[in-house]
Amino acid sequence: MWTQLSFAPLSQIETELLAVLAADTQTDKSPDAKPQPVLLTSDAAVRAAAAALLASGEFKAGANETVLLHAPVGLAAKRLLLVGLGKQAKANANSVRTAAGTAVRFIKPRGIRELVLALPDSALLPPGPCTRAVVEGAFVGDFDSDTYRSERKDQSMESFKLAAPANADKAALEAAFAEGVIIGESQNFARVLVNEPGNKLTPTLLGQRAALMAAEVGLGWEVHSTEKLRELKMGAFWSVSQGSVEPPALIVLRYEPESVTDGPYMGPTLGLVGKGITFDSGGISIKPSDKMEEMKTDMAGGAAMLGAMRAIALLKPRVRVIAVICAAENMPSGTAQKPGDVQTAMPFSPDKPGKTIEIINTDAEGRLVLADGLTYARQLGATHLIDAATLTGACVVALGHINAGAFSNDEDAWAKFDAALAISGEKFWRLPLGEEYAELIKSDIGDIKNTGGRWGGAITAAEFLKVFVEDTPWIHLDIAGLAWAEDSKPYIAKGPSGVAVRSILEWVRSYSK
Ligand code: BES
Ligand code: MN
Ligand code: ZN
Repeated sequence: MWTQLSFAPLSQIETELLAVLAADTQTDKSPDAKPQPVLLTSDAAVRAAAAALLASGEFKAGANETVLLHAPVGLAAKRLLLVGLGKQAKANANSVRTAAGTAVRFIKPRGIRELVLALPDSALLPPGPCTRAVVEGAFVGDFDSDTYRSERKDQSMESFKLAAPANADKAALEAAFAEGVIIGESQNFARVLVNEPGNKLTPTLLGQRAALMAAEVGLGWEVHSTEKLRELKMGAFWSVSQGSVEPPALIVLRYEPESVTDGPYMGPTLGLVGKGITFDSGGISIKPSDKMEEMKTDMAGGAAMLGAMRAIALLKPRVRVIAVICAAENMPSGTAQKPGDVQTAMPFSPDKPGKTIEIINTDAEGRLVLADGLTYARQLGATHLIDAATLTGACVVALGHINAGAFSNDEDAWAKFDAALAISGEKFWRLPLGEEYAELIKSDIGDIKNTGGRWGGAITAAEFLKVFVEDTPWIHLDIAGLAWAEDSKPYIAKGPSGVAVRSILEWVRSYSK
């Protein structure tokens, strides 16, 4: 996509479509108080062109509401699109992000390939974060999931221009604009992967895609398979892959910050661990066939880590980051693991024994691959951990498709993640951990079992992971309910969401020295 930040007067920009944001300034909450939409631009020509429309009361500037005007008088643009933000008092980075997405998704089905969006020039939002959010929203809005359609493919936007006021801080906006492009593209990178069906994205192919991306953006990378799993004694990870003809992939990406001083790096090492089940049939504890096709998305946590690493490589925070993605296909077969089997997880130090796991349900496979992934990240030097996984249906029951689940054993790491959410605009809800929950996964035959029964299933899954994290500060993200959207919204297509990429990135950046 061709992108530009322009400082030309709005009325003089020649384009197929100029989009301008509007907010409802009505503060009276009584039922008969009429909406008072105002344009978020001081450009006199644009305000004049839209004056009659605004006066008509047809357009209320509700969130993501749109109205189109052809041949607007006094403007060089062929069309003027107004996009609502909702109540002005509630406007924030999220509302401009979705409004930008709405403008993009408005033009796409109409065969319009270029968009000029006016950066709101009211004092509503600081211009930097506003620019970044708008650009993110535009890129995220441009994504559609029709990868394999022969007809509709490549209907994406060709040109995106953001028009900022001439008196703006140009250097600051250029930087925010570039940042928005990187973040939006990285979120879409994750979405492309999550969208891929199991036959087009096996663990091996996921490893190849990760390596290609890493080489492109200058990350260190390694992709290992069966032999390395055996060498590291990753019995839990290996047990998930053993039923499939597809070999597992252990994907490791490394980001080194540019040195700040001449001395050795003394800062933290952040370990990003992702669940990369490229298809989850459930294994011998096989899933019902209804909606089983959605289990191609069971690598969304791994994809989120890859998207975040892409953005990290390009945005260059001053902190060391390692990503470990455990990719496998969970299949039933004559070689598959069985309920009742006991597996030995990777030991943290080679001289210690690994923890033993009683397999109660082969469909609780995500925690098995993550157990070894978390241990490996620690062995590679991670001082702080974050994992993301489409881990439990129980999390979806608890929080629906609105909030993803989050857990942490460390208040400082959590405070940083909470602050990251304020920037990313993503919705995560913290759920509790506790000794009483840990009790539920104790095994009679071994150390722990891989399910804790029906109740509190998202929490017992988190407690399982906590066993392998030990005392390392850690955040666990259960994104089962948000990785895939059943319905489209005005600002985002249905299908893979790319959830967690932006929040993980901001969490990482908050450790930057
Ligand atoms: N990948 C699933 C969880 C999932 C469910 C993701 C719905 C996305 C949407 C996971 O591997 C799984 O099967 N979990 C089981 C655990 C149970 C057997 C303890 C579940 O949630 O039912
Ligand atoms: Mn499963
Ligand atoms: Zn799964």
